[in-house]
Amino acid sequence: MKLVAIGVGPGDPELVTIKALRRLAEADLVLVPLSRKGRPSVAQEIVSAHLDIAMEPIVFPMVTDEGARDEAILEQIETIRPLWNGRETVALPVIGDAALYATAAYLYGVWKKIVPDLDLELVPGVSAHSLASARVGAFLALGTERLAVLPGTDDAEALMETLSTCDAAALYKPSALGEDLASVVARTGPWSRMVRIERAGLQDEKIIEGTPALEAAEEYLSTLLLWRWTAGRPS
Ligand SMILES: C[S@@+](CC[C@H](N)C(=O)[O-])C[C@H]1O[C@@H](n2cnc3c(N)ncnc32)[C@H](O)[C@@H]1O
Repeated sequence: MKLVAIGVGPGDPELVTIKALRRLAEADLVLVPLSRKGRPSVAQEIVSAHLDIAMEPIVFPMVTDEGARDEAILEQIETIRPLWNGRETVALPVIGDAALYATAAYLYGVWKKIVPDLDLELVPGVSAHSLASARVGAFLALGTERLAVLPGTDDAEALMETLSTCDAAALYKPSALGEDLASVVARTGPWSRMVRIERAGLQDEKIIEGTPALEAAEEYLSTLLLWRWTAGRPS
């Protein structure tokens, strides 16, 4: 059996690849990742804009404890065993790219423990930081500039170490830093441009420029972009 993790882009249904749609349409079973039962899934909405297919929900609990998370995933894999047992391909559409901070990795890890010959296929998608830079019309990095892609779930010291040595950065999950976001960014500055984009590509997208971009982010689907140099170039 093969798990096909499919990046479907960050929200704009026009940013799904032809390959992603083909692999979804071909799959024997399509799972849809939810953070909580009954909560709408962005990945599901993107897929539904193109394909009229059934999707089986699978909940990825937002917990920091890896053991509890894997236990919850295992329980669900077992619950839906009749749907996947004996099938060839199971697809999991995920937001953005399938290889970047994607929940698919946890599902694959747990599933492989009970199905050791489970294969993995990754279908790339457009990541949130690519759409975010496009939405604000700015090149992310040019020439020899160093771009850092970081998770806000890391500890502040580690984040600052990387931020102080890069020319541009895409900080994922800034909501995890809460009130610390402002000091982490300020202590690694000066930055010539700071933009936080929330729900990029979705109807309620928000673009927040300058210092307000560093206020504690309530929205999980937020990405912070930082540029050391004006317009991505040394001034
Ligand atoms: C689990 S990670 C998924 C990353 C995804 N695989 C990617 O390549 O973009 C979730 C994080 O991605 C970012 N993200 C995903 N979709 C987004 C969107 N539409 N707008 C802003 N940020 C988004 C946010 O930083 C969010 O906290």
